Amino acid sequence: MTYSTIPTARLGENGPEVGVQGLGCMGMSFAYGPTDADESRAALERALELGVTLYDTADAYGAGENETFLSPFFKAHRDEVVIATKFALAVPPDDPTRRIIRNDAPYVRESVEASLKRLDVDVIDLYYMHRRDVNVPIEDTVGVMAELVREGKVRQLGLSEVTAAELRAAQGVHPIAAVQSEWSLFSRDIEAQVVPAARELGVSLVPYSPLGRGFLTGSFADAATDLTADDFRRQQPRYNGENAAANAALLEPVRTVAEAHGASLGQIALAWVQQRSAVHGLPVIPIPGTRKPGRVEENTAATAIVLSDEELALLEPISAKVAGDRYADMRFTSAGRE
Ligand SMILES: NC(=O)c1ccc[n+]([C@@H]2O[C@H](COP(=O)([O-])OP(=O)(O)OC[C@H]3O[C@@H](n4cnc5c(N)ncnc54)[C@H](OP(=O)(O)O)[C@@H]3O)[C@@H](O)[C@H]2O)c1
Repeated sequence: MTYSTIPTARLGENGPEVGVQGLGCMGMSFAYGPTDADESRAALERALELGVTLYDTADAYGAGENETFLSPFFKAHRDEVVIATKFALAVPPDDPTRRIIRNDAPYVRESVEASLKRLDVDVIDLYYMHRRDVNVPIEDTVGVMAELVREGKVRQLGLSEVTAAELRAAQGVHPIAAVQSEWSLFSRDIEAQVVPAARELGVSLVPYSPLGRGFLTGSFADAATDLTADDFRRQQPRYNGENAAANAALLEPVRTVAEAHGASLGQIALAWVQQRSAVHGLPVIPIPGTRKPGRVEENTAATAIVLSDEELALLEPISAKVAGDRYADMRFTSAGRE
């Protein structure tokens, strides 16, 4: 089978054109069980060949490990890739296994220097605030992020899991290129307020976990029994036990649509997220995560699938029926504060 290069979309009002699908790199070092470095490197190279240019990491993915792992790939292709990383999940001095949220200026400055060093680049293309610390005014955090732009350490700014009000306040300080939040057939809470605000403000949407962390592909049915003990998905209510069993049944209409297109479940899930761009009128650049070159091919091929109005209608009721939250503690999501 031959695969063609994916189309592009604009990242932020005055930003670069990037492949309309990015690549989530988190699982290459963190959260989703055993990894194979050679296979991950092959996935990165295959993605670039197919027109994927936005690569997503964070300092928190394996306590810096993911940025370090990606560094040689980024250096080899510096002019072709758009590097997105994040700060805010800090290691408290008394317990290296825990994470606390920090948005204060000294922490932002310390974090950007550490990320630049690990990535071994002069500038980060897109720098996100990963989570919101409600004790720090967002204007102050974005203020220091804007200083990083003026100093040439960062090109564009992004925010993850912010509310519409937080996005508006941030945009008053400095243009925000992208909001990265969870958006999939199972997670549509941002459509109420965040997406309309992003459209109005000229902000692009970067949906994370567009495959429902793999659940929407049918690759696991119950995190508690199918995944390794340290897998992060075992902490997420909707992928475990009775919730998971009820949610697996919700994939039936996805299967029906997939059969009609000769596509996989995951491809339909990705095509649906991609089509949010036309439905909501803003650039949408999902970042499915995979460590396998064959899955990069499968996922990027989904950019060519267009779902009919009837198919969209069939998929429409799914999210309202999902059992269990997307995180154990929803306070750290936009939905938990909106
Ligand atoms: N801002 C935030 O708070 C936040 C939170 C979570 C994630 N993220 C970012 O978003 C990216 C994507 O989200 P995600 O990785 O959580 O979830 P996702 O993209 O919804 O799903 C990733 C999972 O699906 C599997 N998968 C991928 N393609 C597949 C295919 N074609 N068939 C079967 N299984 C497939 C992957 O396994 P393999 O790797 O084994 O293929 C992995 O287990 C992350 O990598 C990270 O960069 C950001």
